[in-house]
Amino acid sequence: MKIVFISLTGQTRKFVKKLNMDSLELSAANPFQVVEEPYIIVTPTYDKEVTEILNDFIETANNQHFLKGVAGGGNLNFGKLFVFTAKDLAHDYNVPFLHSFEFQGNEEDVNLIKKAVDQIDNYTS
Ligand SMILES: Cc1cc2nc3c(=O)[nH]c(=O)nc-3n(C[C@H](O)[C@H](O)[C@H](O)COP(=O)(O)O)c2cc1C
Repeated sequence: MKIVFISLTGQTRKFVKKLNMDSLELSAANPFQVVEEPYIIVTPTYDKEVTEILNDFIETANNQHFLKGVAGGGNLNFGKLFVFTAKDLAHDYNVPFLHSFEFQGNEEDVNLIKKAVDQIDNYTS
């Protein structure tokens, strides 16, 4: 399973690094990349204009077919808007919302994502 992510201030990048899995970082300069293997998205939470590159990526080539779930990082101070980006993506593309965490996450967040990925691997293989 590949991890596809964006990160503006580095928190999500730190989280993904802790997962120690194959990963692909998207930026505004390179959203239209093609993947041909299962992946999950790990995204921070920002206004739609900022995270639109994830939609661009998912809708490139056959990428949507390989999307297996979405996890989100955010800041609980945003209240009801906590991790809305990941929740909206999971809803819009009809895949599981896997987990939410704050900033760069903690050990428990890392373990929970790994567990979720294992479950998807078992289910799809
Ligand atoms: C302008 C701005 C808007 C944000 N809006 C939200 C939000 O609506 N909900 C939320 O949970 N976090 C929000 N955050 C927090 C970020 O998603 C959070 O800090 C995240 O860990 C940043 O990840 P990054 O460093 O990988 O970019 C916002 C942060 C900024 C700077």
